[in-house]
Amino acid sequence: MPSTTTPEIQTGQPAGQPATKAEARQRKAIARSVLMCKPEHFTVVYRINPWMDPALPTDTSLAVRQWQTLYDVYISLGFDVKLIDPIEGLPDMVYAANGGMVIDGIAYGASFTHPERQPEGPAYMKWFGDNGFTVAVPEEINEGEGDFLLVGDTILAGTGFRSDSRSHQELGRVYNREVITLTLINPSFYHLDTALAVLDSTPGQEHIAYLPSAFDAPSLAILQERYPDAIIVNETDAAILGLNSYSDGLNVVIASRAKDFERQLIEHGYNPIGVDLSELLLGGGGVKCCTLELRR
Ligand code: ARG
Repeated sequence: MPSTTTPEIQTGQPAGQPATKAEARQRKAIARSVLMCKPEHFTVVYRINPWMDPALPTDTSLAVRQWQTLYDVYISLGFDVKLIDPIEGLPDMVYAANGGMVIDGIAYGASFTHPERQPEGPAYMKWFGDNGFTVAVPEEINEGEGDFLLVGDTILAGTGFRSDSRSHQELGRVYNREVITLTLINPSFYHLDTALAVLDSTPGQEHIAYLPSAFDAPSLAILQERYPDAIIVNETDAAILGLNSYSDGLNVVIASRAKDFERQLIEHGYNPIGVDLSELLLGGGGVKCCTLELRR
């Protein structure tokens, strides 16, 4: 494990760089608690999304080194990073976001769509139970925070490729919160967290970024109505999973190649931090996929 470095000083805009957008506000970092899984067994041996090609070689040690840079960034931001042991034969376990959703100390477990990933559900639920979380065993097919994103007091819930919309009702019962169903239509953006990023989840100042073309028309209308000041990410940045990012309210960890998104984040008063997870992109995942937020 890397040594813990001093958390960066977490202020809003640096002096001399005022936010250029009128709606930019003083951003505030809140150090997060997250669960990650080291990609010791990462490889691509099956194809369950268009990014995956088992014929292409993967470099597990490079995947581990790239993942380590993400881990180190989180530590430098003062995050509490927990680790679940990787299991041999479950190459996608590195995408911890799919392991469940955790709010108020309650972990709603995952039940995966594809047989290749199904054993991950119980493995993550065991970790939650062993680490003091109350486990809600799912009845419906769902892929955790891959498709469920908490924005303020509302859960945005994706469907279309992976999580069954019946899981959205189940989620609403578990957490007693508003759940909004959003339908994804482009197989390259098969999880909600590949098409939409939560930048600020503070109730009253919710802020998101998304790719409009990833959603069907009714879902897009909901997003436009509820989040009129959202950052609209372009196809180029979305195509390298630039939206698959993770924010603490000020610092937004993004794919280093997502340059226009980076520019827009700065304009809106955020501090983007680029990381290169090119190897994990071969499995169809990026920053957020490797990150499961633990909300006590
Ligand atoms: N290969 C994995 C799958 O297709 C990638 C999961 C990415 N995770 C995410 N939260 N989007 O299931």
